[in-house]
Amino acid sequence: MKTIVRNIRQLATPLGERLRKGAEMAVINEREHVDICLSAGRFLRIGRDLNLEIKPEDTVIDASGLVATPAFVDPHTHIPFFGFREKEFFLRQRGAGYLEILQAGGGILETTRQVRAASLEDLIGFNLPFVYALQRKGVLVLEGKSGYGLDRENEWKQLEALSAIEKITGTKVFKTFMGPHAIPPEFPNADAAIDWLCAEVLEELAKNREMVDFLDVFCEKGVFNYAQSERYLEKGKALGFKTRLHAEEMSFEGGSLLGAKVGASSVDHLIAIEPAGIHALANSDTVATLLPGTSLFLNKPFAPARNLIDAGVGVALASDFNPGSCTFYDPTIIAFLAASKYKMTPAEILTAQTLNAASSLGVADSWGSIEEGKIGGLLLWDVPDFTAIPYLPGHERLRFVIGPVGILRL
Ligand code: NIG
Ligand code: FE
Repeated sequence: MKTIVRNIRQLATPLGERLRKGAEMAVINEREHVDICLSAGRFLRIGRDLNLEIKPEDTVIDASGLVATPAFVDPHTHIPFFGFREKEFFLRQRGAGYLEILQAGGGILETTRQVRAASLEDLIGFNLPFVYALQRKGVLVLEGKSGYGLDRENEWKQLEALSAIEKITGTKVFKTFMGPHAIPPEFPNADAAIDWLCAEVLEELAKNREMVDFLDVFCEKGVFNYAQSERYLEKGKALGFKTRLHAEEMSFEGGSLLGAKVGASSVDHLIAIEPAGIHALANSDTVATLLPGTSLFLNKPFAPARNLIDAGVGVALASDFNPGSCTFYDPTIIAFLAASKYKMTPAEILTAQTLNAASSLGVADSWGSIEEGKIGGLLLWDVPDFTAIPYLPGHERLRFVIGPVGILRL
């Protein structure tokens, strides 16, 4: 059973199986009048006027007038969470700070209370609509995290919810353990929490490897400092885990340097990164995952994306979708912000939302580009040119989403 997509007006994709750094991000393969044949969930053939035998069970899609890009990968969300925090949003509007609200027991700790009170079924049920909505926006691979349980039972519940969501939706879901997202209410301070995570939780996770793909930490002033983040990540690394960090979101703590040093898969946010951090990332294969929706939502400065790319860093883009610092998840809005605020080009944006995002999750060999042999995640857009995608945020110009989830006609 094949899916044959005929006569695509323009195909635009990055190429390769690894992170594209710096100037490489602007290299996009553009072809016109292309046919694509998918079989067994993979791209089987891509070319002009493919002379394919069509069998009755095959699906043929006429893509004349449509533009094809790879499916989006969102490498940083906080799915699964429970409940919203609109009160806090309006408190901030009147001057309260994000970290101030957290320190007063709100923010992440408010969502923690709601997640703890929810059953596993509640948690799955609350988050499924987001994942289906993301599919319809072309996101077929995403990362989600724990970090709203902050105790053994509820962190596990979040990881279990992620596994269930993957099975139910067909979206490829990467599971990140983020125990050090905030200081758990049961612990007197960050050091005590890190002691517990290192001595007990990471050891137990190491015996249940299928539960988690990455470890993450909120390395930030007043949350977990450089030394505490380092202790946790080094312990995780010694146990064989891949790592990522929330780094330099509000202030420069050196999380970008730490990420490069421990060989993290990704360091995320980087709003307050300094030149030493940029230099360290340029000399590493750690991806800089930027989250422009968070800057807009929190009314913060935007990460210096141009400086990062011009210095040779590999940049990915993600939503950071969560109830406290960014409620946007539409990849076209993220693309628009990358263009207007980061001054990234359409080609750089496409690379950052596909191949580099896949790299950040360690799957650039199977996702992130339209190439024979890769998993067949394909989007067909009703736009004049792929460069129009960041220019039309929130417009519903996607006509087909094709991938392991089947064929969605929109
Ligand atoms: O990436 N900074 C820490 N974590 C999230 C926000 C989580 C929340 O506010 O619920 C972030 O911005
Ligand atoms: Fe985040």
